[in-house]
Amino acid sequence: MRVEGSIRAPGDKSITHRALIIAALSRTRVQIVGALTAADAKSTARVLRQLGAGVGQLRRGQELDVRGKAWKKPKGTLNCGNSGTTARLILGCLAGHRFESRLTGDASLRRRPMRRVTGPLVAMGATVKEGAGNGLPLSIRGGCLSSSCRFQSPVASAQVKSAILLAGLTGGVPVTVVEPARSRDHTECLFTYLGFDLLTKGREISFRGAGDTWPRIESFDLQIPGDVSSAAFLVGAALLADSGQLLIENVGVNPTRSGFLEVLRRMGASVRVENLTEVCGEKVADLVICPARLRGTVVKAGEIPALIDEVPLLAGLAARAEGETTFRSVGELRVKESNRLVLIAENLRSLGVNAEVDGDDLVVAGSDRPLKGRVDTARDHRLAMTFAVLGTTKGANIVLSESGSAGVSYPGFFEDLARVVSR
Ligand code: S3P
Repeated sequence: MRVEGSIRAPGDKSITHRALIIAALSRTRVQIVGALTAADAKSTARVLRQLGAGVGQLRRGQELDVRGKAWKKPKGTLNCGNSGTTARLILGCLAGHRFESRLTGDASLRRRPMRRVTGPLVAMGATVKEGAGNGLPLSIRGGCLSSSCRFQSPVASAQVKSAILLAGLTGGVPVTVVEPARSRDHTECLFTYLGFDLLTKGREISFRGAGDTWPRIESFDLQIPGDVSSAAFLVGAALLADSGQLLIENVGVNPTRSGFLEVLRRMGASVRVENLTEVCGEKVADLVICPARLRGTVVKAGEIPALIDEVPLLAGLAARAEGETTFRSVGELRVKESNRLVLIAENLRSLGVNAEVDGDDLVVAGSDRPLKGRVDTARDHRLAMTFAVLGTTKGANIVLSESGSAGVSYPGFFEDLARVVSR
């Protein structure tokens, strides 16, 4: 296999959700460049339109126009599709709005835990009616929020943290979140970029409310970089190739997101970060990747939050590395779009790779035997793309149960993969 050319990954999913939400909450016109146009972003856009915001159509390569308005009680149920970020961040926003809304999602999202978000929001003063235990559907009515929210989160979750920060914004109250480990900080970057009064001291984030900064913002532009989690699949394909070089331009390299690059370097990969700059409060760079012979490593518990969405891909690469790779404390993978922890191991085993779940750890033994077999993606985009990347390796014959799920975060993934990797 040869890798060559230059490419751009689609817009960052996490930043797109936040940009759309903050624009919809503003009382002004916001122009967004580089927004993700995938299914998850469309879920946020659809929900925001139901809440009264003027959100244009998300079209690849086109600027997006959002007109923020005062939110109103939605007519129907808010369907968050497959997107946990949509559900949890919108719940946070709704905690500061005094009307009732009902939220639901697809079968995968309905299985995912919501109390990690609704628990603190109820403690702040919101009213939540659960329809199905810990998951969706559920109804929320925002309240007069308490002005002394200090939440010690048991999980390092940016969605939980962001929900509370957004509740502070919509409810007009100060909030503090203390995380067990630093999770992605895109909400903090955006708040800071907009001039909000936010203070980060280690793992403690305090937001004192937007005060009069918020109404004073008349109109603003946001530029969104390429998604490093989507770029990761192209990085992986390039590393597994036999020759060539790949340039991925304009990728977000926020350190709370790009932890996998450090792990790859430890595994012997060559990934150069070039033209590092800052755009709208986020670090952005170009990545240059050359094929490499990888070796196993131990990914420590403390490293996981900054690479949580890249564990499937890293586990796939570990299957082609020399020696064993251990991912410590990856239990959170059980509650992602699928039970990724179990499915990564099972699917790797179906391809002849030794992979085991040991408590909350995942252990993968590398080999260079051709990978052959059938993979159950469980309609999880990151599993589909991981095994598609492994399918580019010498002698591989991998049949995916489906491939459409890639459109959740990366429309055009298979075309892009075929464009940069050739036999
Ligand atoms: C996200 C946070 C992470 C990540 C998800 C996107 C976000 O989830 O896995 O894909 O945009 O805030 P958790 O907050 O549940 O860790």
